[in-house]
Amino acid sequence: MNNDLFKEAEEFIRSCYSELNKTEQEIEIRLNEINKQLQSKDFYEHTAVELEYGAKVAWRNSNRCIGRLFWDQLNVIDKRHLNTEEEMAGALFEHIEYATNKGRIRPTITIFPQKTPNQTVRIWNHQLIRYAGYRTEQGVLGDPGSLAFTEECIKLGWEPKFGKFDILPLVIQINDNGPRMFEIPEHLPLEVPLRHPQYKWFEDLELKWYGVPIISEMMLEIGGVTYTAAPFNGWYMGTEIGARNLADESRYNLLPQIGALMGLDTKSSISLWKDRALLELNTAVLHSFKEDGVSIVDHHTAAQQFKKFEEKEKEIGRSLTGDWTWLIPPMSPAATHIFHASYNNEILKPNYFYQPKPY
Ligand code: ARG
Repeated sequence: MNNDLFKEAEEFIRSCYSELNKTEQEIEIRLNEINKQLQSKDFYEHTAVELEYGAKVAWRNSNRCIGRLFWDQLNVIDKRHLNTEEEMAGALFEHIEYATNKGRIRPTITIFPQKTPNQTVRIWNHQLIRYAGYRTEQGVLGDPGSLAFTEECIKLGWEPKFGKFDILPLVIQINDNGPRMFEIPEHLPLEVPLRHPQYKWFEDLELKWYGVPIISEMMLEIGGVTYTAAPFNGWYMGTEIGARNLADESRYNLLPQIGALMGLDTKSSISLWKDRALLELNTAVLHSFKEDGVSIVDHHTAAQQFKKFEEKEKEIGRSLTGDWTWLIPPMSPAATHIFHASYNNEILKPNYFYQPKPY
């Protein structure tokens, strides 16, 4: 019998059941059950209630996330019974459609079978929807953040399209079997063409971004149990797209182009052309998502929501953990209260963790 696993299970069951106002007796009965499962095999299985609560608390414990006020509203889809790559791909398509909800984005997680001594399921993608990146003679085309994964897809037989915004296929692996690739049906990913409320020329840049960020490479750990495939999403905070994905020099690096189109002196940093370009790019992101009815939050509102989360946790008597370096937004950080506070970066469980890349 695995004593460490039982200890982890016990810690989770006690805190989960007491938060859910279950009785001491219910806790004892459940711990006995788990104990019995661990006598006969190397793992135990969560009930649907434990799974749902564990996934939600894992979000609540995600120190880097500014959006945690909504942790209790996570939609948990239990797909632990699936056992083929085809079925998993189907469930991922359903996740995209359900979470997208025509733009009224629903925070959602789909949970696939847990890791056991004889089964491991993995999704190779960083996010279910992500743009390809290609190394060409003229430099990188598309998203430089996707270079390595795009290469893997091509090795597996994916036909490169050599566009700036090509949606990558899903790659799913069960055990040591060869990974299987599935093209996402074209109608599923919702995308937002970017335009600016004042600058007419902005749309000529032909920029866009997808609506729903669905992180698919992390593992979910609950009570000693590891879910190696458990993709989850919220909605975007505008700066993730406008101040990072499209702006970072190591990503789409669009500030020089936008600064030039704005007629700014991009030769002199004291003209603050980068800051001005950044501001207008972020304005375009928020404006376009809003106009298309796709959920998004600006960083000031997100910080206020985080403040409310802090207050709620305090009221309930739970200690708050957070990672300041990630919580501050990448634009005007000092205009939010987060910048002026400090946070305890202790890692509580359940939580979402990085795991080694399968490729
Ligand atoms: N920062 C990542 C991206 O830009 C997404 C991370 C999750 N973000 C979220 N709002 N849930 O694609």
